[in-house]
Amino acid sequence: MSHKDKIDKSKLPRHVAVIMDGNGRWAKKKGKLRTFGHENGVISVRETAEAAAELGIEYLTLYAFSTENWNRPRLEVEALMTLLLRTINSEIKTLNDNNIRLLAIGDLGALNKSIRTRLLKAIDETKNNTRMNLVLALSYSSHQEILQAVKQIATHYKNNEISLEEINEQLVSNHLYTKDFPDPELLIRTSGEFRISNFLLWQLAYSEIYITPKLWPDFRKEDLYEAIVNFQCRERRFGKTSEQILKQEEVK
Ligand code: IPE
Ligand code: IPE
Ligand code: MG
Repeated sequence: MSHKDKIDKSKLPRHVAVIMDGNGRWAKKKGKLRTFGHENGVISVRETAEAAAELGIEYLTLYAFSTENWNRPRLEVEALMTLLLRTINSEIKTLNDNNIRLLAIGDLGALNKSIRTRLLKAIDETKNNTRMNLVLALSYSSHQEILQAVKQIATHYKNNEISLEEINEQLVSNHLYTKDFPDPELLIRTSGEFRISNFLLWQLAYSEIYITPKLWPDFRKEDLYEAIVNFQCRERRFGKTSEQILKQEEVK
């Protein structure tokens, strides 16, 4: 029996975020270069996006490149950027055929101009698609995201555009790259690493975290289904007691 059959379609997470990790180790195990792992990771991206769209998930955010990843060897960074460009070019038609909207979060200004231009064009070309939002985190750092939000809010305050009382959680959320998306209910990280690596620190405040030892290039549709089934077995208490949650369920 597939995990897919165990998924309760009425209790799907609206937003799933994924830290796609383990490409390098996957390649090394096969005696290949790290870039071979990145190339195979694209197959997992395709599978995961397809499975998420088929299920009816509204937002899928994929951590593809962190600001810290700029510090990797130059050749690896170049290979990743070339792969990004190639993948956008090869997948844009599939995205449109499947009614999937492409979006990006991060410091896109740090990307090479030709890649940025192609990315922005792909974002524009898919802007009317409504089935699912596929959000790529590129040159992304949660610290940087929060910092730029703080600076923007401070500027509004300095210019007397907002008062101190108006600075609340909603206002901060509204200044993050993710302002138009709900917070992820589920975070998946592959390769068995138990850390967040500067990803969506604000937005993951109450997300359920699912860590699989699988390396990203081995991640398939069934693995996404398994993560969702696991998520659906959790009791999300948001600080309340179990008894309170059960009572809430009864009222529903
Ligand atoms: C994830 O795989 C891809 C990126 C971070 C770009 P890694 O390249 O981090 O692979 P490992 O973690 O070294 O195995
Ligand atoms: C996190 O993976 C970033 C991405 C998946 C893009 P890393 O491999 O860069 O994370 P660390 O360095 O192991 O924390
Ligand atoms: Mg890694």
